[in-house]
Amino acid sequence: MTAAIETQGLTRRFGDFTAVDGVTMEVPAGTILGLLGPNGAGKTTLIRLLLGLLAPTAGRGRVLGYDVVREGEAIRERCGYMSQRFTLYHDLTPDENLDFYGRLYGLRGRALASRKEELLAWAGLRPYRHARAGALGGGLRQRLAFACAVLHCPPLLFLDEPTSGVDPASRRQFWDLIYDLADGGTTVLVTTHFLDEAEHCDLLGIMLGGRLAAFGTPAELRAAYAGEEGLDRVFLRLAQEPAT
Ligand SMILES: Nc1ncnc2c1ncn2[C@@H]1O[C@H](COP(=O)(O)OP(=O)(O)OP(=O)(O)O)[C@@H](O)[C@H]1O
Ligand SMILES: [Mg+2]
Repeated sequence: MTAAIETQGLTRRFGDFTAVDGVTMEVPAGTILGLLGPNGAGKTTLIRLLLGLLAPTAGRGRVLGYDVVREGEAIRERCGYMSQRFTLYHDLTPDENLDFYGRLYGLRGRALASRKEELLAWAGLRPYRHARAGALGGGLRQRLAFACAVLHCPPLLFLDEPTSGVDPASRRQFWDLIYDLADGGTTVLVTTHFLDEAEHCDLLGIMLGGRLAAFGTPAELRAAYAGEEGLDRVFLRLAQEPAT
């Protein structure tokens, strides 16, 4: 089985500042990878490198088998991306947002109409389909942005802090949707600040100061760093260790 994401020493500097520092990882297809890290750890920059939106200063990466430097366009066509400042049209309804993004992805006519119905039902948005997106609550808006990101059934999905600013009940609903996709074989890379969400992931990467300070299953990280203690302790320990 090929890896969905494979990087070796992936690095990005901005002037003297190293935002992503020698990240090496392998993410098997069908995995939910959670990336945890404080503000400025380099999570968003890493995603932009993987999508070929930003050129690495050093290192290599392949996403769905494509090279991040030379084949960024092929990667972006095949991936879903819900950016941190996600971009819904607030003056448009859920229906219209899905139409708009569907056309961007090249969906038309019956194919678009049926995919749209499927996603409205899946994300629990049917009752709100004709409301202005800007008037929807945070959880609903997040689900709409999510639906827009998966319109074209991407095998790999990048979710950049999809649940920030969302209440706990809505966060749980959101995770049900993520599980649903993963059950269908989609690979998901999701960044979060919430440690409780880390437990939902198959693999975890902890980013600190641009480095991938730890990488493994939640159980492996607990065993390696804190015995039976919680992941919050792992995180604290890593944050206190000096960068090597
Ligand atoms: N285009 C840029 N030019 C200069 N510095 C940048 C640029 N993009 C990101 N940085 C810096 O790189 C570091 C990592 O930023 P990044 O947005 O990747 O962090 P993050 O982990 O996503 O943080 P957050 O949790 O706040 O979203 C930050 O210090 C940021 O200021
Ligand atoms: Mg970010």
